[in-house]
Amino acid sequence: MSGGTRRKLRTLAAAILALTLGGVASQTRGQQESVIGTLHNLSVSGPGEIRALSETEVCKFCHVPHNAEGATPLWGRPLSTAQYETPELRVGTGGPVPAPQPDGSSRLCLSCHDGTIALGDVSGAAGRVPMTGPARLGAGRRGFLGTDLSGSHPISFVVPDGDLGLETDGGDMALLPLAVVTADPDVRLDAEGKMQCTTCHDAHSDGYYRPGQVPRFWVKPSYEEVCLACHALR
Ligand code: HEC
Ligand code: HEC
Ligand code: HEC
Ligand code: HEC
Repeated sequence: MSGGTRRKLRTLAAAILALTLGGVASQTRGQQESVIGTLHNLSVSGPGEIRALSETEVCKFCHVPHNAEGATPLWGRPLSTAQYETPELRVGTGGPVPAPQPDGSSRLCLSCHDGTIALGDVSGAAGRVPMTGPARLGAGRRGFLGTDLSGSHPISFVVPDGDLGLETDGGDMALLPLAVVTADPDVRLDAEGKMQCTTCHDAHSDGYYRPGQVPRFWVKPSYEEVCLACHALR
């Protein structure tokens, strides 16, 4: 990598941090953990304020139990019927249009995080799992997103192959070629080539979290590495 490129990447990282976090992230690698040690362990053994009174199964809050290993995960929750406010999208459009409604695994995330469905509401004969804490995520909780996603990064759209020439306050932001984007093993698009919540977050692992520097359930050791998998400053 040339010195010039490195300088540009540093400038981009700074611009991106100013956009959302306003902190400086170092490159220290976080410790990998399984879902059991994370806020996504909603069973009785979970570390968070929100967990089951007696249910011991960790996976059932998101997956149907006894799903064959390696198969496409079967969601174990009712999905929300909410209509979401979505941010503007310019991909493949003549002008900005609202991004599509969330689809794919993003709908699983939103079945807890939009606050419309009770956390213990897992599908199946067992019905609702009795929980401690609030029945659903709501205003005042860190995890509450609601149904207005217009201030967030667009999701559930097909990432294009080609530069969009995005202009932001932080600088002119380029989009890397799709082959570069898809070569990154951590920052993943779904089977249809769409960006989803899981492009930036890993629901199973929170090992990289550092307060004020690296968001929770992050797919990379540092904040800006995720953005730089797709964006560059020029
Ligand atoms: C908080 C929700 C949540 C919990 C709890 C959870 N998962 Fe997942 N799991 C997901 C999501 C979301 C995906 C889809 C990932 C994707 O599309 O990239 C997934 C995908 C998977 C897959 C498919 C391979 C992969 O990683 O994409 C397997 C296997 C899996 N989960 C196993 C488990 C097991 C075993 C547990 C319990 C220890 C568990 N999950 C707990 C949300 C969860
Ligand atoms: C079964 C319900 C459930 C599902 C499904 C789920 N989450 Fe969560 N998640 C939670 C709960 C509960 C918390 C803790 C929230 C709190 O205490 O306010 C949490 C916390 C988080 C946090 C940390 C919030 C903070 O404290 O800063 C992130 C990020 C997150 N989830 C992302 C995701 C993503 C991305 C998905 C989908 C891939 C997902 N979650 C799916 C229940 C869920
Ligand atoms: C482009 C990357 C990216 C995508 C895609 C993304 N997030 Fe995040 N998410 C972040 C960042 C960055 C933060 C930390 C924001 C902060 O601290 O100000 C965050 C924070 C969160 C939080 C903590 C609450 C908050 O607002 O700080 C939750 C919960 C969450 N994300 C869930 C989701 C869900 C659910 C989706 C899909 C609907 C999603 N994220 C998609 C980057 C992303
Ligand atoms: C998987 C690739 C990918 C990742 C990872 C990604 N982005 Fe993006 N981002 C895009 C694409 C594609 C667009 C253009 C969407 C559109 O059509 O408007 C975009 C748009 C944006 C925009 C809007 C620019 C504008 O003026 O319209 C901002 C700001 C942005 N991204 C910041 C970030 C930040 C910050 C991160 C890291 C937390 C990040 N992105 C991670 C692909 C990505």
